[in-house]
Amino acid sequence: MDAIEAIRKRRSVRSYTDQPVADADLDELCRLALLAPTGGMSQSWGIVVVKDPETKLKVAEIVIDGGAEYFAMMRPAQEGTTAEEHKAWGREYAEQVLGSYRHVPVWLVGLLVPRHLFPPEEAENERTADMISVGFMMENLMVAARAKGLGTVPTVFHWWAIDELKSLLGLPDDVEVPALTPLGYPTEWPQGLPPRLQEIRRPWQSLVHEDRWGNTRADS
Ligand SMILES: Cc1cc2nc3c(=O)[nH]c(=O)nc-3n(C[C@H](O)[C@H](O)[C@H](O)COP(=O)(O)O)c2cc1C
Repeated sequence: MDAIEAIRKRRSVRSYTDQPVADADLDELCRLALLAPTGGMSQSWGIVVVKDPETKLKVAEIVIDGGAEYFAMMRPAQEGTTAEEHKAWGREYAEQVLGSYRHVPVWLVGLLVPRHLFPPEEAENERTADMISVGFMMENLMVAARAKGLGTVPTVFHWWAIDELKSLLGLPDDVEVPALTPLGYPTEWPQGLPPRLQEIRRPWQSLVHEDRWGNTRADS
């Protein structure tokens, strides 16, 4: 599969078989990920490959816990439910949609490892550059995985349980985890987007501006 087909066919996969991923594939994916552009060649990044069964399970629990918080925060509460009941709904929903994460073959944890190369007063710009580089790295990884028939999904649910994750993986204080992903063979490839998301997808022509802001392809 070439890069264009892999980009077209990459989909967020949230259900995996327990077929293991070969170590050679894992190494190749990490190397391809780390060929992404990196501001000033700073390489302010890293990847934790989690294969140990006990650690994998703990990562899954952290993602499910964070997901429960996220769903309760982002989805409106049903009328007449208490805060407590809504929280319980978030937990139940996270179990339903993320419970299978307890069996994923591998977790790939994307790290932002600050190198402090910019002058101190430019720390914010440096963090932005580092964050963008980690994003490119994760995208390389996800597209390459797709080309190999492997599924991924960019995940940030751990943001709501970040202390547990950092402690589990022994990450230094200043190392951040912008995104992580399960990796494995999908039980099936999602065909297109779910209708709820398809509905809100903006036509690409409305997002491309000709020469200056506002003059979009959708207007011509
Ligand atoms: C920054 C970012 C954060 C995301 N966080 C999550 C997440 O925590 N959990 C999840 O299931 N999907 C997450 N996604 C996946 C998006 O929901 C998904 O990419 C989007 O719905 C489009 O679907 P597609 O990836 O199949 O094209 C995230 C995507 C991005 C870019």
